[in-house]
Amino acid sequence: MKKKNLKFETLSVHAGQHPDPLTGALNTPIYQTSTFAFKNVEEGRKRFMGEEDGYIYTRLGNPTTTALEEKMAALEGGEDAAVAASGMGIISAVMFALLKQGDHLISTDSIYGCTHAFFEERLSVLGIETTFVDTADPGNIVKAIKPNTKAIFVETPANPTLKLVDLEELAKIGKKYSITTVVDNTFCSPYLQRPLDWGIDIVIHSATKYIGGHGDLIAGIAVGGKEIMEKVKMESIKDIGACISPFNSWLMLRGLKTLPIRMERHCENAMKIAEFLESHPIVEKVYYPFLKSHPQYEIAKKQMRLGGAMISFEMKGGYEAGVRLMDSVQLLILAVSLGDTESLIQHPASMTHSPIPEEERIKAGITNNMVRISVGLEHPDDIIDDLKESFEKINRELKLY
Ligand SMILES: Cc1ncc(COP(=O)(O)O)c(C=O)c1O
Repeated sequence: MKKKNLKFETLSVHAGQHPDPLTGALNTPIYQTSTFAFKNVEEGRKRFMGEEDGYIYTRLGNPTTTALEEKMAALEGGEDAAVAASGMGIISAVMFALLKQGDHLISTDSIYGCTHAFFEERLSVLGIETTFVDTADPGNIVKAIKPNTKAIFVETPANPTLKLVDLEELAKIGKKYSITTVVDNTFCSPYLQRPLDWGIDIVIHSATKYIGGHGDLIAGIAVGGKEIMEKVKMESIKDIGACISPFNSWLMLRGLKTLPIRMERHCENAMKIAEFLESHPIVEKVYYPFLKSHPQYEIAKKQMRLGGAMISFEMKGGYEAGVRLMDSVQLLILAVSLGDTESLIQHPASMTHSPIPEEERIKAGITNNMVRISVGLEHPDDIIDDLKESFEKINRELKLY
């Protein structure tokens, strides 16, 4: 693309897209191939030696995936990107590129259950220790730093407590102590929040969510400096093998073209639903960054364009009421994952966050009666009606308000 300083919406359509030199096809083709033929031995040798650009084998790179890397790097404002077969695939690939035996990692206590398990149970086997702290308070991060701390990994907003980390403060800590900062930006997508703009080193996405946007693929993406992304691709992903299929890269190229308009509608719906929940007598507490009641509302307004589409809440009647709600809803779908066109409802304590030991989970604010909603693209009145009818049914049964 020749034009510079383009707006986000324009980049989401055009970045990474170059008409096919052979046919003129406007959209990037799906290069559904495992391997690439060399013209002669010398060409193959040069590609393996890194002396010449070009493709070798899809685990090491593929043109459809290159187009996606280019688009995501442009949207997050980074130099380069790496794509993996899942969010967990990219998290492990990045951590293997950053850490080695004897290193120390700091992470958020409220974090996606499998990320917690990867740090606590997989990295520890390799002699890499993780300290989990409440990263909403930057002072806790500083207190946890050790001489061998090499990386800080946070989610903001965190899954499922919606706690935030001040990205500007986190980047300052990273720079002051020469520690690499990594932010899981899954809940926001680059349309709502761009951590690299605040000085963060690496951004991670479970691209399964808003990047794909349609609930039909599993993928992970990282964006950061050229050197570290090269290491993630040509060392971690190459040797771990968590490479993406060209078809899934193509689905994300397609999904990203509508990211801004999808996010606008997701967030508009979520704001209405968060306000409805907060006003309903059966609801005890709502966690949503753009509600004034959120304890870090000012930070949310500073670093997020809109409040996102993830809402967590607790009901009167505790766990029993929450279970009845999830079994009563007719439109909301009882399923994990998020960022789909459909609204999803789930119970973090028994589902997404069950890998975290109970005592540690509750201390991190992931209570047994917390319910999480991923607000989709339906009409918000229909979602509200579904919740309202279910609340009334539960109240008839349990007399809660
Ligand atoms: C915040 C966050 N990060 C990472 C992941 C892992 O992504 P994936 O399921 O694509 O491996 C998830 C999955 O739900 C998530 O919610």
